[in-house]
Amino acid sequence: MARIGFLGTGEIASAMIQTIAGAGHDIVVSHRNERVSAELQMRHPGLRRAANQTVVDESDIVVLCLLADTARKELPNLVFGDGKTVISVMAGMPIAELERLCAPVTEICVAIPLPPMPLGGTPLAVYPENVCLHELFGPHVRIHACASEAMLNAHFAATGVLLPLLDQIDAAANWLSAFTDDRAEAASYLAGLIGAYCKLLTQETGTDLAQLRAGLGTEGGLNQYLSRTLADNGTLTALEAGLDGLRKRLQLPPKN
Ligand SMILES: NC(=O)c1ccc[n+]([C@@H]2O[C@H](COP(=O)([O-])OP(=O)(O)OC[C@H]3O[C@@H](n4cnc5c(N)ncnc54)[C@H](OP(=O)(O)O)[C@@H]3O)[C@@H](O)[C@H]2O)c1
Repeated sequence: MARIGFLGTGEIASAMIQTIAGAGHDIVVSHRNERVSAELQMRHPGLRRAANQTVVDESDIVVLCLLADTARKELPNLVFGDGKTVISVMAGMPIAELERLCAPVTEICVAIPLPPMPLGGTPLAVYPENVCLHELFGPHVRIHACASEAMLNAHFAATGVLLPLLDQIDAAANWLSAFTDDRAEAASYLAGLIGAYCKLLTQETGTDLAQLRAGLGTEGGLNQYLSRTLADNGTLTALEAGLDGLRKRLQLPPKN
């Protein structure tokens, strides 16, 4: 059993807590956000709410779930004892800065959890690898160890594709529901189709992306037509440009 504290009690802290809550750990969270932290306490008996300094004092592992700018203001007010582990999930917060803000802590890693984490089996990118993180989340996720901080930051950028992909489902569901008159069913149908293909891609023995694309790309077929129409209209170029647009704020080198 570990003593784990969460600073920041928003969407991502909530997902992380739900993921590990059944494992018997001693969990303490910032009493902000009042609504979310109260809900968590109701759902997980034994979970405690406290002021930020108490959260730090009463934890061996401190999970930083604040916005980076909030952390820059709040962490200098807190005293971290030696021997703790810090897991940060904050985008745009370099490890060197965390080392200064959480001194004298040296055991620091950055991870990228996502809200569907409690479903189990979602990828969790991390740098550097960390024993505590493995022990806590390893049984629930697929740990994706990155070889450098830049590689981790590129994974942060890549998570930005999620909303654009959901936007596409939304647009297609709108189009389909003009015929079916049932928007929710249209969205569920499309999500089911896409989910099945994603499952094939993520299974260990599964098909690879090139095979799946070849299978769908029959010459003159519906998928090939739509795929080419989107590419010809600049969709893929825009996606790459958007990812490049995230380089600066994630401290990634400019494109050559
Ligand atoms: N959401 C995601 O999908 C996701 C994925 C990966 C990483 N992240 C990272 O996770 C971090 C948090 O994101 P989020 O989506 O969970 O944001 P969020 O829902 O806005 O949560 C931020 C939390 O910080 C709290 N807070 C603000 N000031 C505080 C203070 N001085 N002391 C303690 N808590 C304070 C807020 O409380 P109040 O509401 O009371 O202000 C809120 O509970 C970000 O750095 C983000 O980059 C998010």
